[in-house]
Amino acid sequence: MGSFDELEQIREQALADLMGASATPALEAWEDRYLGRRGEITLRARTVGQLPQEDRPAFGQRVNEIKRLLLQAYEARAEEISHAELESQLATEAIDVTLPGRPVIPGHLHLTTQALRELYAIFSKMGFEVYEAPDVELEAYNFDLLNIPEYHPARDMWDTFWVKETGEGPGDRRLLRTHTSPGQIRAMRERCPEPIRVILPGKCYRYEQITVRAEHQFYQLEGLAVGRGITMTDLIGTIAQFARMFYGPDRTVRVRGSYFPFTEPSIEVDTECILCGGKGCPVCKYTGWLEVAGAGMVHPVVLENGGYDPEAWSGFAFGFGVERPSMMKYNVQDIRWFYGNDLRFLRRF
Ligand code: DAH
Repeated sequence: MGSFDELEQIREQALADLMGASATPALEAWEDRYLGRRGEITLRARTVGQLPQEDRPAFGQRVNEIKRLLLQAYEARAEEISHAELESQLATEAIDVTLPGRPVIPGHLHLTTQALRELYAIFSKMGFEVYEAPDVELEAYNFDLLNIPEYHPARDMWDTFWVKETGEGPGDRRLLRTHTSPGQIRAMRERCPEPIRVILPGKCYRYEQITVRAEHQFYQLEGLAVGRGITMTDLIGTIAQFARMFYGPDRTVRVRGSYFPFTEPSIEVDTECILCGGKGCPVCKYTGWLEVAGAGMVHPVVLENGGYDPEAWSGFAFGFGVERPSMMKYNVQDIRWFYGNDLRFLRRF
């Protein structure tokens, strides 16, 4: 009977141990200890041969019963443990999906890009299309073909960055365009003999001392219309309409005579100061007026250089800086901020 008692003791001990196992490693050790190939039950089963003949069937049967019972208990416990482990893992690794997200700071368009897009929208309503010309320009397009020959005193107006690589002749030398006007020649040569109505936006470069009011790079917007019977009133009307759409519906403009080599006659257009409305303030230097654009009727020589017969065709052109109007509109006091990459400035717009 000793073997039978021992068997029951093992069963009780095994069940008690099983309840004491509270994690997967302990459970595996338990299985090894009792049910494994060298486990207590397995070893006990092998002792059946040492028993008296008549006890053997009952002993074998009991061993099998206990084995089944322990296996069931083991499986139930394993289930409990894996459930508990999953619960605790979920608790410790929990993500609180109700927490507010971290805000993503979206980028936005640079003030100059915003201004350019507004200008495109305004001029497209008046039938102008955008025409792009290169930043690295031939000397001929930037100067000669715009009626500014080598010896012309007007060349002093544009301090130039020259590109080292030089072309064949004097007019083939390369430079960074000092204004957007060379695009006029490109547009005319490409479109001739069709009428033209384009705006030419782009960055310009001048070899200048950088100050609060002057940068060595800045944007300009050029305008060019070529057709039959285009007159000065078309030019003034176009700029007056632009001023109303950009600065406000009540803006009036005034026109002053001026000089540019590529226009004849040449004018400068002013609008009433957007800050004081014409009364006089520091922004308009107490004149009540702000300069809007340089402009004029396209010079016959320039028309001819573009391929148009000045006897049959006429045109107007204008050009202005893009940063200046933004500076006035938003009271930006330093043009260097446009290229300073200071987020405190950029985020304001
Ligand atoms: N290109 C001139 C400048 O950079 C601006 C300008 C004046 C453009 C008169 C024009 C114009 O088209 O007609 O100062």
